[in-house]
Amino acid sequence: MKWVSFASSDDLSARAAHLLLEAVRNDPRIVLGLPTGRSPIGMYARVVENHTRASSSFREVRTFNLDEYAGVSRDHPGSYFAYMKHHLFDHVDLEPANAQIPNGAAGDLAAECRRYDAAIAAAGGLGLTFLGLGRNGHIGFNEPGAPVDSRTRVVELTSSTRRANAECFPDGNVPTHAITIGIRTILESRAIVLLVSGRGKEEAVANLREGVVGESFPASALLRHTDVLVLTALGGVPS
Ligand code: GLP
Repeated sequence: MKWVSFASSDDLSARAAHLLLEAVRNDPRIVLGLPTGRSPIGMYARVVENHTRASSSFREVRTFNLDEYAGVSRDHPGSYFAYMKHHLFDHVDLEPANAQIPNGAAGDLAAECRRYDAAIAAAGGLGLTFLGLGRNGHIGFNEPGAPVDSRTRVVELTSSTRRANAECFPDGNVPTHAITIGIRTILESRAIVLLVSGRGKEEAVANLREGVVGESFPASALLRHTDVLVLTALGGVPS
């Protein structure tokens, strides 16, 4: 695991965007795993800016988001689909069919999870996956206790995660469950970049640095992977 720390979340975002754009340049058909949350917003803004200015192309890129709220339709402003449209999909030339997010409003969520795993497998697995880090060490929505061999499934969100994400649901109806890709699928990604930005992540970062291992700290699964880059900007407010 390699670590790079930045004085500001702006600097972190610039590096993350550079890594994403470079990966697309090197392999225009790359399969990306994409995160949501506050940490990647600046990365997406810079990717979009580059796309407009330098005409980078995402025409053949395939993307799989890590997670989506269960019981939330795509047109709900708090959905991760709405987030991705707003921050990336509406601004780059990704083919809509190549930009995948689990459908949290599917009638049969178990079938949707199976479909999602099959779609990732059919794309040849994830090539480069960007992750955020939850304050309790979650990656995607793999909360403490998530098995390291897990695949895409419906999970219950912890109260701390629901509190952390409550601002996206101003009516107070914060979802209790989500669909997330599993830790096994994340670990099968050929390379991983973990973005850690904002306050409240100090303990999770300390655990990761000290190599605290166990399912009670999901991010520790990343210690099993040979190509993980951790970018941190602690204390900075994500832009
Ligand atoms: C949410 C997402 C995670 C993300 C985490 C951290 O819970 N499901 O994938 O990593 O938030 O978000 P933030 O960057 O806002 O701290």
